[in-house]
Amino acid sequence: MQSSSKDSSAVRCHFIMAPSLTTVIAAVLGFMIGTAFPISSFTKFEISSLKFMYGGDTEDLSSINNSTDIFKIYEPSNPKGSETLPPGIVVSESDLYQHRLWGNPDEDLPLKPKYLAVFTVGYQQKEVVNAEVQKFSENFTILLFHYDGRVNEWDEFEWSQQAIHISTRKQAKWWYAKRFLHPDIVAAYDYIFIWDEDLGVEHFDAEEYIKLVRKYNLDISQPAVDSSRYIVYPVTRRRNGTEVHTEADEAPGTCPDHQPPCTEFIEIMAPVFSRDAWRCVWHMIQNDLVHGWGLDFVLRNCAEPARYKIGVVDAQWIFHHATPTLRDQGKEENSTANLAQAIHARCYLELATFKDRWRHAERDYYIIKGLIPANATEHFTRFP
Ligand SMILES: *[C@@H]1O[C@H](CO)[C@@H](O)[C@H](O)[C@H]1NC(C)=O
Ligand SMILES: *[C@@H]1O[C@H](CO)[C@@H](O)[C@H](O)[C@H]1NC(C)=O
Ligand SMILES: *[C@@H]1O[C@H](CO)[C@@H](O)[C@H](O)[C@H]1NC(C)=O
Ligand SMILES: *[C@@H]1O[C@H](CO)[C@@H](O)[C@H](O)[C@H]1NC(C)=O
Ligand SMILES: *[C@@H]1O[C@H](CO)[C@@H](O)[C@H](O)[C@H]1NC(C)=O
Ligand SMILES: *[C@@H]1O[C@H](CO)[C@@H](O)[C@H](O)[C@H]1NC(C)=O
Repeated sequence: MQSSSKDSSAVRCHFIMAPSLTTVIAAVLGFMIGTAFPISSFTKFEISSLKFMYGGDTEDLSSINNSTDIFKIYEPSNPKGSETLPPGIVVSESDLYQHRLWGNPDEDLPLKPKYLAVFTVGYQQKEVVNAEVQKFSENFTILLFHYDGRVNEWDEFEWSQQAIHISTRKQAKWWYAKRFLHPDIVAAYDYIFIWDEDLGVEHFDAEEYIKLVRKYNLDISQPAVDSSRYIVYPVTRRRNGTEVHTEADEAPGTCPDHQPPCTEFIEIMAPVFSRDAWRCVWHMIQNDLVHGWGLDFVLRNCAEPARYKIGVVDAQWIFHHATPTLRDQGKEENSTANLAQAIHARCYLELATFKDRWRHAERDYYIIKGLIPANATEHFTRFP
């Protein structure tokens, strides 16, 4: 990971004032005690020094840990692992705001962006990505995941110098999302855009998009798509004359059962999640399945009622260039065709794995709840 900061040398606070005498004594004592014990008796060292600090009291240390000690902090409603902290000090959520290193922390942020726009990018696509970012106002934090190791080159764009950059070579969008977009870390943002790098945005404006998403209460959404190519899922196709739609309007009979991908469905190419929906979706992303295939079919489990809360925004729409991108990264070590083929195969493998895991998880749940009908498959999620 690296930040966009130009000051690559670490910036730290140094104590400028002379340390107090007690600090020096404590440090020296700590050093002496530390060197007096070999590593293997490190625990012993901790205990004896603790006694020392508590004033040489010979009382058994276990009483410090005894629940009858009413001053021993234990707050079960604290986040897991932090029960021994006074709740008032616990900060369980964060954001991606960048602070100054000086001044009053309260005054660091003239503007706290309410939305987060995330792009997974390679430098070859810089013009398209630049055009995409232009459509996001100052109310957005811009975060780039770089899969080609080229980060500094982006500084030719002024916005890049304020953006967050995370660089790890040759990873896929959902690999980054799982690792760097934990819901507690991005908790400050009302909406999170997790977009591909090959989207045409001539007819898209992010602020206008947010207005529509709020108006229609969409927890999970995407802009409608226009494409020179075949559109895989008709529900995503742009419609003329409406602001939002939630169901494919194909020829009667093609979508008889009101299931994804006809409704309660968006693609994973340009999704937009509300804070709550993202908290749910993040948990369902599998650590090892980096392409995210199959996720779109179960997004409905993260919006209630999905019928109304998952939708496609027609009034702000995008064009899908469908350029093979990450694939090109393999050129130097394998033929692009080969690699593209191998990636494609991996995508299908991941889809099969995900479906399998999902079905087992679903069935296990029904069994535990005593709703076993293992043959009641109509309650199971349908995948393609
Ligand atoms: C203190 O409490 C924790 C958890 O309640 C327990 O795991 C640990 O063994 C206790 N330590 C002592 C010294 O009693
Ligand atoms: C706590 O201490 C009391 C007396 O000091 C003792 O009777 C009790 O067993 C201890 N409880 C635990 C959980 O260690
Ligand atoms: C940013 O958000 C504020 C507050 O919601 C709004 O007044 C302003 O118009 C937004 N900026 C843009 C460029 O839309
Ligand atoms: C959209 O519909 C309007 C009339 O409702 C029409 O004038 C316009 O040409 C249509 N646009 C497209 C792209 O179909
Ligand atoms: C090249 O791609 C093929 C898959 O088409 C794969 O089996 C092979 O291991 C790759 N070779 C290298 C050097 O990555
Ligand atoms: C489930 O299958 C068993 C036999 O395999 C059948 O007796 C039972 O009626 C079925 N239950 C339902 C709800 O279809």
